[in-house]
Amino acid sequence: MAGINRQILLKSRPDGAPGLDNFELVRSPAPEPADGEVLMRTRYLSLDPYMRGRMSAAKSYAKPVEIGEPMVGGSVGEIVASRNPKFAVGDIVSAYGGWQDYALSSGVGLRKLDPAAAPVTTALGVLGMPGMTAYAGLLEIGRPKPGETVAVAAASGAVGSVVGQIAKIKGCRAVGIAGGPDKCGYVVQELGFDACIDHRAPDLARQLEAVCPAGIDVYFENVGGAVQQAVWPLLNDFARIPVCGLIAQYSAAPMPGPDMVSVLRKRLTLRGFIVWDFAAKQDDFLREASEWVRSGRLKYREDVVVGLENAPAAFLGLLQGKNFGKLLVKVA
Ligand SMILES: NC(=O)c1ccc[n+]([C@@H]2O[C@H](COP(=O)([O-])OP(=O)(O)OC[C@H]3O[C@@H](n4cnc5c(N)ncnc54)[C@H](OP(=O)(O)O)[C@@H]3O)[C@@H](O)[C@H]2O)c1
Repeated sequence: MAGINRQILLKSRPDGAPGLDNFELVRSPAPEPADGEVLMRTRYLSLDPYMRGRMSAAKSYAKPVEIGEPMVGGSVGEIVASRNPKFAVGDIVSAYGGWQDYALSSGVGLRKLDPAAAPVTTALGVLGMPGMTAYAGLLEIGRPKPGETVAVAAASGAVGSVVGQIAKIKGCRAVGIAGGPDKCGYVVQELGFDACIDHRAPDLARQLEAVCPAGIDVYFENVGGAVQQAVWPLLNDFARIPVCGLIAQYSAAPMPGPDMVSVLRKRLTLRGFIVWDFAAKQDDFLREASEWVRSGRLKYREDVVVGLENAPAAFLGLLQGKNFGKLLVKVA
């Protein structure tokens, strides 16, 4: 028997940095599945930077959350009622259930998970959308070659941690940029990057230059802002820049752009992408990344907050670098 469904709605759109007052928690009875549908109980909710974009009405690659609608998000759920022959009560699935205890689905887009193969939370992180983003963005756009230098910021996070570890697997020098000594220590000692620089260091540009003696061949762009400005002069001719995210700029006034004269003189390739542009690579990703996780070549760290009601505060923390690893909410 399903119970009360707590939902976290978008109450208002932020102007600049979002706050707790942009969200509202409401309660209603859990819905009943119609013919062909399943009802899922959310076990884990994924919190991701793109959700900042969904809070805004600005035109983007995906439609915004409307005021009064539940916030969207990836989830791991357990099927608690099924009127769809492909799913049985008790199945654990990865879904897009949103910030709520219960979600209905037609079954489209659900992927059954095998808890014996890997912890189910990995479907939201290293073996989920963020891992796939790193894999596809680095290999399809970055095209790293052995011996090259790959730089990535938010290096201890869900995407950046995978980017640097795959760069190492491919024989590259991996240079991370992260917020603070704990994250930088983890990136080098646990994840095996060659170096990691604190983006808050006053001499970021000089420190970065010191650990990139042969320049930078692939800059996996996760943050923009001051990090981008420090990286730009170090780019080698024909460097590739998968433009994955600009988290430093999501709530800020527009920054002065990169030096386009360098784009010309150095014949740089920069390309924006959304992870699902590479949907055709998902099977390759799951096969390779699952094997790397099993063999210990691809490590991951999760930052698990307990309680759906704590999702808004945890999300605000993500935008300020308070998470350490893939941010998840344990809902039930
Ligand atoms: N294109 C796509 O399809 C796609 C898919 C997934 C993610 N993304 C993007 O990839 C990036 C990383 O996402 P994620 O899920 O892996 O998040 P994450 O790294 O797990 O968490 C976000 C991290 O961003 C860093 N950060 C926040 N504000 C910053 C600032 N002002 N300057 C520098 N760093 C800052 C913080 O790390 P530090 O404490 O280390 O600074 C924070 O922990 C985001 O830009 C996201 O939007 C894009």
